[in-house]
Amino acid sequence: MTTIFSGVQPTGIVTLGNYLGAFKQFPALQDAGNAIYCIVDQHAITVPQDPKELRQSIRNLAATYIATGIDPKKSTLFIQSEVPAHAQAAWMLQCVASIGELERMTQFKDKSHGKESVSAALLTYPPLMAADILLYNTNIVPVGDDQKQHIELTRDLAERFNKRYGDVFTIPEIQLPKAGARIKSLQEPTKKMSKSDPNTKATIKLLDSAKEIEKKIKSAVTDSDGVVAFDVENKPGVSNLLIIESALSGVAIEELVQKYQGLGYGGFKQGVATAVIEHLTPIQEKFYHLVESAELDIILDEGAAKANAIASATLKRMEEAIGLGRARR
Ligand code: TYM
Repeated sequence: MTTIFSGVQPTGIVTLGNYLGAFKQFPALQDAGNAIYCIVDQHAITVPQDPKELRQSIRNLAATYIATGIDPKKSTLFIQSEVPAHAQAAWMLQCVASIGELERMTQFKDKSHGKESVSAALLTYPPLMAADILLYNTNIVPVGDDQKQHIELTRDLAERFNKRYGDVFTIPEIQLPKAGARIKSLQEPTKKMSKSDPNTKATIKLLDSAKEIEKKIKSAVTDSDGVVAFDVENKPGVSNLLIIESALSGVAIEELVQKYQGLGYGGFKQGVATAVIEHLTPIQEKFYHLVESAELDIILDEGAAKANAIASATLKRMEEAIGLGRARR
């Protein structure tokens, strides 16, 4: 049976980029195999977080997974820090990773750029991500395009470990969404849409009100020629909006281009905003119903128990292969 694993960081409200790159892929996969989804709270603390806000974000993220279609009867949903094997396995994987390869990660370069001091964990973040994936004997990792390099490193670390210590790990494959693998900022459409963008107009959050969504899309940066056409290089803003509507609705980009002919950017943006609002409204309703419920705690307790059982078995195999601990007499 195929095992699917993915994780999302609980840092604030997830964006439309997270949704299209990751969450939207998840529900179909829970019917395709053994699907495991994680709230990676230990990754979140590689940069400073307010403790109260972090705890709320963890709960919000758990509710988001379910509101976007994760069925806890089919999938395992759990919090990373509730499964201690992740940090333990990450340590062993740090021992096979080199500083040079970690320093080459573009996410590390971006997040450390211009900073006088960053945490050591920002550098060792990818071996923790590799541990997340490898502990579950994962075959497929559905993620957005920005995680490609981390998955390649995970594969390298797994292969190196297997070569050095024997066949412990399954080598995972990345799965990118067919549409929406890299949603761009609404304000700088050559940059990816990012949760941490200080310009609030650049990002649509999954919990934005209809009014906020409309306002943000209407002020999205486009160009001055007034023609709705798909051309990522020369018309990145218009193309990004077309990708968003197409990925949400499943309607082909060419068909959308036809639909918006002659309507100008005003009509086009109104159409995209309506599509986003229609898609997010039912998700928001489910989210608010769930987020403070006791049901959510039961789901997370059961998820942690299931995840602990699988992860601790792999951890044991890793320790045996490396020679940690002792052989009992
Ligand atoms: P994170 O929390 O930054 O993002 C969660 C998911 O959203 C995708 N994503 C996007 N997709 C399309 N367009 C965008 N603008 C966009 N921005 C983000 C990401 O690719 C990701 O799939 N390191 C990971 C979390 C992680 C993980 C794992 C993922 C930890 N362990 C194990 C998979 C497997 C991260 O920071 O994602």
